[in-house]
Amino acid sequence: MIRRREFLRASAAVSGLAFVRNFSPLAFSQSSGRARVEILLDEPLGNISPNIYGHFTENLSGVIYDGIWVGEDSKVPNVSGIRKALVDEMRKIKPALVRFPGGCFADSYDWRDGVGPREKRPRRTNFWAFGDSPPAPANHRYDPNLFGTNEFVQFCRLIGGQPYLAANVRSLPAEELYRWVEYCNSPAGSTTLADERSAAGFKDPFNVRYWGVGNESWGCGGNFTAQEYAVEYRRYTTWVPGFGQELSFIASGPDGDNREWTRGFFEEIVRKGKQQIRGIHGFALHHYAWNLSRGKTEDWDQGKGDALKFEPVDWYELLHEGERVESMITGHWQIMGEFDKDHHVKIAVDEWGPWYRPGSELTPGDQLEQTPTLRDAVFSGMTLDVFNRHPEKVGIACCAQLINCLNSLYLAHEDRFCVTPVGHVFAMYAAHQGGQSLRTEFTAPEIQYDRDGKSTPFWGLKGSASLHGKELVLTAVNPNVSAPLEVQIVVQGARINSADATVLTASDIHAHNTFVDRQAVAPASQKIEITDGGGVFRFPAASVSKITLQLS
Ligand code: AHR
Repeated sequence: MIRRREFLRASAAVSGLAFVRNFSPLAFSQSSGRARVEILLDEPLGNISPNIYGHFTENLSGVIYDGIWVGEDSKVPNVSGIRKALVDEMRKIKPALVRFPGGCFADSYDWRDGVGPREKRPRRTNFWAFGDSPPAPANHRYDPNLFGTNEFVQFCRLIGGQPYLAANVRSLPAEELYRWVEYCNSPAGSTTLADERSAAGFKDPFNVRYWGVGNESWGCGGNFTAQEYAVEYRRYTTWVPGFGQELSFIASGPDGDNREWTRGFFEEIVRKGKQQIRGIHGFALHHYAWNLSRGKTEDWDQGKGDALKFEPVDWYELLHEGERVESMITGHWQIMGEFDKDHHVKIAVDEWGPWYRPGSELTPGDQLEQTPTLRDAVFSGMTLDVFNRHPEKVGIACCAQLINCLNSLYLAHEDRFCVTPVGHVFAMYAAHQGGQSLRTEFTAPEIQYDRDGKSTPFWGLKGSASLHGKELVLTAVNPNVSAPLEVQIVVQGARINSADATVLTASDIHAHNTFVDRQAVAPASQKIEITDGGGVFRFPAASVSKITLQLS
């Protein structure tokens, strides 16, 4: 039997000793060289859409039930059934948008199961019940449908984000997308579905703007060819009324680097005329960094590494795998431009993050749950910096996933809750939202790491900058596991009046937060020296930093 993940992809140990970083002055002077960050005020790249600071919540194991939804009668503090600690934390990170209900789950979901009185909603077998390893624990195998459209929209309202609903293309007819939009957006009293919404306590329309049309349609979302999917895309999206709300459809895009999908999709879309492009808002791109085998295998299970037990080589390999998203963005963008010259369609990286083998779950049995470490924080900072550097291309991005799954910002079980290092990165980077991205040059000596006896280079410092009036936000990661980096910061076209810095790091690269030790990795303030209108900052080893500069 084909394992589910192999099907989804359709192609697609280390010692465990803690590696404690070396802060010796020798290590510093050997590797620091002359490092410089130069921010070019007169080279704006475009506005950073808040939507690239988006999240992903799939009905998968502990994400919805336990993670988000605890129920109104729960002893866990909640707001209308939604975990209060999560709401409180999310408000701090300005979550622009949240994608729901999947993922692969979306193409098995009937939205009607999740509306109406909760006690009458049907129980269904969850898409993830028996697939992937390990299979779902009994309590997550069946879907009680207690958290449906109303509860999700309520969650979005509580945290201040926009809903992004992913519609089922594999197993529901096109009419159901139309009806779901009608349920969400038709004016009070206008239709039977609007009445159903009102009866649930939501008289005013939800005004849902973002709609995904299937998910990974090359795999779990229907196993289509790009051409077949493009035909379906046209059919599902043609003449769907928004009921006064502009609708923005997101098409299912490629698996990582698969450029054939992109070309095939757009070729077929424009077969009916160039104007068809106008009906696409976003083109989804999914990229998971999972292969830490150092080129030894492409096997989905064999290639994965451990979330907690790793060596410096695995640290660099993970970052290297994750950074491939940048060439994917530029590569797909170039192909999209052949069909869409003025680039109406933006890329939606609506699933990204590292994916490790099972074993680090804080809640035993939770599928795809892993415990993020400092490595994942650096990975996440690096990835958000990539998006910030391509504001004209990336319109949406969603970290996979929000809670209790993969690159979680939060981990929760019953009344326990913690913010992961990834959650802290989102809090730091929220300051970029809506800013003008500026071209920024990072000059730093390369790092060399040992890859099976071969000295392998990795860049020494990268980041992004954005301008907000007279305030400039610079974020950067120092990926060096053992050496800090002293860097001169120059803003071309302005003087720095004052500055403050926040740094996320730890003395052990494996550091992570748990329900017991919730502060093992937490942001801290660090001094930045300002002289002669410029700055000098020491980026600690293995760190993510945010520097806020006041300019004149
Ligand atoms: O995030 C977990 C799964 O990964 C999603 O359901 C799917 O879209 C992707 O393959």
